Amino acid sequence: MSSDGFFFDFGEQPKMEKVAQNETNHHDLVGSTVKIETFPNILSNNDNNNAALLSTWGEKYQNPEKMEISINNTIGCVYYQAALTKDSLQIDNHEVKDIIPGRYYGGLKVWSCAPYLSQFMATHNVLHNNNNNNEMMIAELGAGQGMPLLTAILLTLYNNNNNNKSYQYIFQDYNEEVIVDCTQPNFATTVLQNNLINNHNNVRVDFISGDWEVLAHNHNNNIHYENKVNIILGSDVTFDELATQKLVLLLQKWLSPIQNNNNNSNFALIATKEYYFGTNGGVHALQTEIETLNSKNNNNHKLMCEILDRVEDSLGMNRMIVKIWKV
Ligand SMILES: C[S@@+](CC[C@H](N)C(=O)[O-])C[C@H]1O[C@@H](n2cnc3c(N)ncnc32)[C@H](O)[C@@H]1O
Repeated sequence: MSSDGFFFDFGEQPKMEKVAQNETNHHDLVGSTVKIETFPNILSNNDNNNAALLSTWGEKYQNPEKMEISINNTIGCVYYQAALTKDSLQIDNHEVKDIIPGRYYGGLKVWSCAPYLSQFMATHNVLHNNNNNNEMMIAELGAGQGMPLLTAILLTLYNNNNNNKSYQYIFQDYNEEVIVDCTQPNFATTVLQNNLINNHNNVRVDFISGDWEVLAHNHNNNIHYENKVNIILGSDVTFDELATQKLVLLLQKWLSPIQNNNNNSNFALIATKEYYFGTNGGVHALQTEIETLNSKNNNNHKLMCEILDRVEDSLGMNRMIVKIWKV
């Protein structure tokens, strides 16, 4: 352990995830601004403006990496980027840290729970939504490079060319820089490489930057999302107690309540380390924050949760997928 940080070793790529310590008061600096950009009909092949936009986003794609996702015997690929850094998201512009509280929370790189959640969704058919609505809203909170939501896009659109269902995908990250350098280039590359641009006149994508707590209290913008999001994804977003508290607040706000007592209708899937050493995040923190919020919200909807999956890791960094739903 050094004077200003320590490493998590997750025993797989990416090997080390480093968190700056002794800077927790930076949380007070959290900006009050959120930026929401909405792109309707983004996959329509009738819209030249959208084609130009996708190509502009795609030009920023660098350090190519891809992960294969098997969909009904067809292979699609999620495209992401290896080892991105950005001077403006580091302390005094040279030492690379994974988390700088109040400024940057690790969105430039792919953390190890992201491929875990993506593979889990692909193999367990969890996105088969029973809510019978013609519209489906899927968000990823703390998306960074967005691997889980890109996987969900593949899973929902692949065999749906003739489907009248509308999809709204929402990528959210703390940093606008991450949205511009990671999320949008990965989205553009994934939809272009998988030939997803065709009949989908009914796909909208939103990119949102800002703090979860600010978003949870942002009444103007919550008109679009409050109690409306059918599926919420998150990977490695429970890395400390404050992050977990804010995350649960936004889940409580945005998640659509379950329909007909069926917790497969609307839910969140949060992939997390069992315990984040040194910062006290993890499954216990998530369960505790849910209980605390439920006890404060006497007259409101309550959140329920269960552990869907657990993977042992030889170095003790076990991973889990927690399902959360609103009643
Ligand atoms: C450890 S990174 C994980 C990134 C990505 N989900 C992955 O697994 O590769 C945590 C992510 O949560 C986001 N995040 C953390 N705290 C946040 C907060 N208070 N408000 C909004 N986003 C936050 C960060 O921007 C970052 O993308």
